[in-house]
Amino acid sequence: GSDAMAMINETDRFVEIMDKERISLTSDSIEIFNEQEELVTREAYQAEIDASDTEKGLYPHYMLKEIDEQPTVMRTLIQEYVTLNSESTISPDILSEISESDRIYIVGCGTSWHAGLVGKKMLEELTGIPVEVNLASEMGYDMPILSKKPYFIFLTQSGETADSRQVLVKINELNLPSLTITNVKGSTLSREATHTLLLHAGPEIAVASTKAYTSQIAVMLFLSKALGEVLGNQKAKDLDIVHELGIVASSMESLVDEKESYAKLSETFLADTRNSFYIGRGLDYAVSLEGALKLKEISYIQAEGF
Ligand code: F6R
Repeated sequence: GSDAMAMINETDRFVEIMDKERISLTSDSIEIFNEQEELVTREAYQAEIDASDTEKGLYPHYMLKEIDEQPTVMRTLIQEYVTLNSESTISPDILSEISESDRIYIVGCGTSWHAGLVGKKMLEELTGIPVEVNLASEMGYDMPILSKKPYFIFLTQSGETADSRQVLVKINELNLPSLTITNVKGSTLSREATHTLLLHAGPEIAVASTKAYTSQIAVMLFLSKALGEVLGNQKAKDLDIVHELGIVASSMESLVDEKESYAKLSETFLADTRNSFYIGRGLDYAVSLEGALKLKEISYIQAEGF
């Protein structure tokens, strides 16, 4: 399996398999061979997933459960990324490597790419470093001309998306530094990048990404602020991130509480609709693209972001 979560009800012990390895399994043994047919020794690791995190309880769908979890995820992120003295917990190595770069390349697919578009705005505003957002499925085949000191940030909920990974493989061949922002500790993109920051969103099981998207945006805000401070950016210094994200968490709570009224609105305006448009400028454009993706994924109503 590509994800430990799929088998968490059977076991919490897993052995990783790398590219081009061959596995021989019997009822009481596992042997791993590399490309040269040499036996490889690799210990099993214990997955830190709680089986109860993967149950949907009273919710009719995982997606509803995951939407509801967003305020909690925001508060978890504040605890993970800011100390009691209001300092960033992001490793100084990550910050110094990125602050030395002349251009940041964000790479992702789908919802993660949309989160990247929001991340670009925040990073540029709080750090002054130019940011390019690339769709991994294009970049893998059509690499742009890179700047002199590029830094790559891979956004991926699962840490396993093949298109994103193929870009990371190329980046590693060029010996360029990278950071993966992912929800899955130990995932392929996390293992293969120079650094990792976790989304701490808990397992996202619904195909439509929700809490991972908002978490990606929050983690990029923590990163933008910490980087901006290193670079002496006044806006970054002035940003009270704990206060702001606290407001975000409470606002999310209010939205979640108003679910019923959104259900009624959808019924009134969308039940007989075949086409819809989300329209916005700047950050709202990025959010429009994500809103449209969510609607079309879940309802099959044609939806476009403009
Ligand atoms: C949309 C969705 C997909 C993923 C995309 C990237 O709701 O789930 O568009 O966002 O496949 O997946 P990750 O983030 O796992 O790399």
